[in-house]
Amino acid sequence: MKKRLGYIFLFGSLLFLSFQVVKDKLHLLQSPGAVIENYIEPDYDLGSGHIDSLIPYPDVKKGERTPFDLWKYGGKGRSSFMDPNLPMEWEDWLSFHQNQKPKLMADIDAYMNSRYDFTNKVIEGKLMSGGRKPIMKGPVARLPKGINSYEELAELSSSEIKEKDLFPFKPLAHPLASTAHMVFPDNWNAVHPEHMRIDVDHDYPDAYLPEFPPPMFLTTHKELGDVTDGREITLSNYYEIFNGLLTPEQMEGLKELLRPTPTTWFNQTPHRVTKEASAGVSCFSCHVNGHTNGAFELSPDSRPHLARLRVGTPSMRGNYNLLQLSSKRSIRSMDHFAEIEEYFDGDPGMMQHIGPRGHQKSVANRMGDFNAMLDFPPAPKLDAMGNLIPEKASEQELLGEQLFKGKAKCASCHYGPAFVDDYMHDLKVERFYKGRPEGPIKTFPLRGIKDSPPYLHDDRLPTLDDTVEFFNLILELKLSKKEKDALTAYMLCL
Ligand code: HEC
Ligand code: HEC
Repeated sequence: MKKRLGYIFLFGSLLFLSFQVVKDKLHLLQSPGAVIENYIEPDYDLGSGHIDSLIPYPDVKKGERTPFDLWKYGGKGRSSFMDPNLPMEWEDWLSFHQNQKPKLMADIDAYMNSRYDFTNKVIEGKLMSGGRKPIMKGPVARLPKGINSYEELAELSSSEIKEKDLFPFKPLAHPLASTAHMVFPDNWNAVHPEHMRIDVDHDYPDAYLPEFPPPMFLTTHKELGDVTDGREITLSNYYEIFNGLLTPEQMEGLKELLRPTPTTWFNQTPHRVTKEASAGVSCFSCHVNGHTNGAFELSPDSRPHLARLRVGTPSMRGNYNLLQLSSKRSIRSMDHFAEIEEYFDGDPGMMQHIGPRGHQKSVANRMGDFNAMLDFPPAPKLDAMGNLIPEKASEQELLGEQLFKGKAKCASCHYGPAFVDDYMHDLKVERFYKGRPEGPIKTFPLRGIKDSPPYLHDDRLPTLDDTVEFFNLILELKLSKKEKDALTAYMLCL
């Protein structure tokens, strides 16, 4: 009897305990948050940029084609997280792209030629800092039908340009945004066939990209000029070139910037876009010689994937003078950047599948320390205050400087030793086209700017002349042709 009572007691307490567990679980849940009744969203003057006016993103699988005019789309994705598997077997993936690529590349070509008139005209006598590659003449962005000159276009108001769909400088999308990731230029792939993609190639003609390989300048060795002797710095030659010039700590930082590491689509698993398994990419695969080869990617900072902005590789030159790194993430240090550039797509989970380098903080710091030595190219026409030296400058260049600091307003955001204000600005470009607003973007420095076409975060402006036309429109400056040419001539001195 006593025993039975014991069992009943035990059973009862278990029941009570499990009830308590369920009850506690309820307590673990948060109370429902506050909800405004009959909520009406303010309009914020978003108009045709508001999410309700945008086309919902297509539900595409990895590898499937995406619209070139992605700025018209908006919405939420199915997941923020990437699946480390291909949507099909490797052999099928390969043949899917063998079939798709020729037509895709033909369409990309046609699209780029419909937006830009790549005339191959150069600015006479002007070369990039290596002294080999000409600087291209623009503007090459095509004027809309019925408009005969950029001066005529600039007479129209922003709302007229938007309503009549006349804006020549709409965003530029990654041409295969479902897979996205890095796309290297042909001149790079010719030397590094391990980075040739099975699915898509770069969309810009070589003449409109930076010189390759570019020169490299060090803050600690101005007397050496270009330290590369016309070579691409690699893991196999860096030691011989820099031993005796750098500190051992800087040597290690440089080595790590040169060491390939697996990425989302360049690795040894079938989740890749190269025919053969790949050791991956190094920082200098895009930032070649501490500068840029014009490779582009998608910015890691948004989801769904189709909402990620295309970003062209910026130069690492003069990063020591920047307090904001990357277009939208506002990263504040070079070592932090070295750490997060390891997971290019903003998805640390993918690293487990592809084999991360996972370097320690001290290593990232050393990479940052070497980054901090990469100098801007020489600017012999500038004095210690960054002003043109009158005896060395032409009348046109001096007029450009005067406009830059005055009527054209450029110096309100581009000033100081790097010609940058280190703020993010919302240029509100969507006032000129119907589509998703891109929001604040960091100001890019203009020191050495002639060396790093194409321009803007997403490469939409092929030449410096296009940047002048862009700002002339969005700042509503109504500059004359002569004034605009002077601004370009001035920027070539920086
Ligand atoms: C696709 C080739 C690619 C590779 C490889 C690459 N980067 Fe970048 N890098 C970019 C792009 C594109 C941006 C611009 C990102 C943005 O605007 O959001 C960038 C931006 C940066 C910036 C900020 C520059 C600025 O002006 O804001 C730094 C610093 C940088 N990268 C360092 C590195 C380091 C260190 C590595 C190696 C760990 C690396 N990058 C590897 C393409 C690359
Ligand atoms: C309100 C601040 C502001 C003013 C004024 C301004 N800029 Fe900029 N500039 C920016 C921002 C922000 C970017 C980056 C925009 C982007 O990538 O979407 C930029 C980018 C550029 C670039 C491209 C840099 C690169 O590396 O791709 C050039 C060239 C440029 N500006 C020239 C000018 C000129 C010339 C003027 C004057 C006519 C001017 N800017 C006026 C903020 C400004």
